[in-house]
Amino acid sequence: MISFEHVSKSFGAKKAVDDLTLTIDDGKVFGFIGPNGAGKTTAIKMLTGILSPDQGVVKLNGIDITSDPIEAKRSFGYVPDTFDMYERLTGMEYLRFMGNIYRVDAAKRKAHIEKYLHMFGLEEAANQQIRAYSHGMKQKLAITGALIHEPSIWILDEPMVGLDPQSVFLLKEEMRRHADAGRTVFFSTHVLDVAERLCDEIGIIKQGKLIADGTLDELRKGDKDSTLEELFLELVEKGE
Ligand SMILES: Nc1ncnc2c1ncn2[C@@H]1O[C@H](COP(=O)(O)OP(=O)(O)OP(=O)(O)O)[C@@H](O)[C@H]1O
Ligand SMILES: [Mg+2]
Repeated sequence: MISFEHVSKSFGAKKAVDDLTLTIDDGKVFGFIGPNGAGKTTAIKMLTGILSPDQGVVKLNGIDITSDPIEAKRSFGYVPDTFDMYERLTGMEYLRFMGNIYRVDAAKRKAHIEKYLHMFGLEEAANQQIRAYSHGMKQKLAITGALIHEPSIWILDEPMVGLDPQSVFLLKEEMRRHADAGRTVFFSTHVLDVAERLCDEIGIIKQGKLIADGTLDELRKGDKDSTLEELFLELVEKGE
């Protein structure tokens, strides 16, 4: 479970996130969508404790990320939108490093690594240095590492960028399975048809403000046949 309670963050005069209040229950895949610069990554960075809010409270499974950061961090895995990796480590060394950070025991670690490397077709590449990886390969490795401690909450900032179609499909299946097992997936995306099919709930943010949230049906407000793309364009253009 995730909650934002009246959370705001400014950069100088720019209100990147403006009074965000949002709760995501266990068992849900939540998709966070909005135009470029709307505040998605800023909200995600507050959720992960990378940025501290100017105002408001962020909780993960009821734990306040500001007052109890270590405990809160145990509960989630995070894949950032851009990342620097340790280029001279091999993929496997990187995964071992992540396993050590999160103190994952050997058997669990092995099972997770085997499953994800196989799923993403990275078994051979695992013994190469990360500097030889393509963008998509790095993304797959980052996902594998971020989930190594089997966190209950997955926080993924544009996780599908750079992934090939097969990997996108498999990742979506994993996200669905994770939520169906009673846990939480929070991700941002610009791919609205993925969001439409995968998400239990969707939040739309524009200029730092949450302008809509709920199930697709709730966003449609009776306009039964509209696609998420149509709703998005309508809601985001409103008032412009
Ligand atoms: N470190 C920073 N310093 C100054 N301004 C920032 C900083 N980070 C974000 N911003 C500003 O905050 C606003 C929200 O940015 P954010 O990265 O959260 O948007 P986003 O919704 O993730 O966009 P995108 O879809 O392009 O990833 C933008 O106006 C951005 O310029
Ligand atoms: Mg972003």
